[in-house]
Amino acid sequence: IMMLKLDFLPLSWLLGTWESDEPGEGTFPTIKPFRYTEKLHFSHVGQPVINFTFNAFHAESNKPLHRECGFIRIEPGTNKVAFIIAQNSGLVEIEEGELTGNQLKLQSQSLGRISFAKEPHVQQIGRVLQLRPDGKLEQTVSMATDNQPLTQHLYITYSRSS
Ligand code: HEM
Repeated sequence: IMMLKLDFLPLSWLLGTWESDEPGEGTFPTIKPFRYTEKLHFSHVGQPVINFTFNAFHAESNKPLHRECGFIRIEPGTNKVAFIIAQNSGLVEIEEGELTGNQLKLQSQSLGRISFAKEPHVQQIGRVLQLRPDGKLEQTVSMATDNQPLTQHLYITYSRSS
């Protein structure tokens, strides 16, 4: 019998596939507000790690837009969580934070980007993922750029689809 050491168990409520039920809202002081849909997938392969993909689409045209994928680790025996993320825009990031109940609050710890990343560059990211009492998953993302302080960029809710 294979012994599984599933350190991510406190986050097992994330596992599976989630789809936005209503379009998410994208905002930032420097851009035109937009709406998007998004599909999230969280899985594991028996390692103490969650694998994830987030795929976002334009709400009206369904055109693929933003994509992220990565890994989630929990420091064993603690509520300290780390996200290791790659984004299709050329950004990579480590976010760390804490799990409190069903709420995960994360702050970027380090950011890296390709040499020809579009400006303005992101300087900081804050993210809250929470499982609401009604069973929906909610995500808000804030960011600071070269010319804007930490401000909300995304708000979206998802329903479990499998
Ligand atoms: C704009 C970063 C997720 C859609 C931007 C800008 C930045 C950015 C830096 C430019 C802001 C400016 O010009 O001042 C990020 C980061 C994300 C993220 C760090 C994740 C952590 C998303 C997602 C979508 C999205 C999930 C969903 C479709 C857009 C759109 C714009 C934008 C439509 C405006 C047009 C454009 O600049 O392409 N984002 N974004 N972003 N973002 Fe995001």
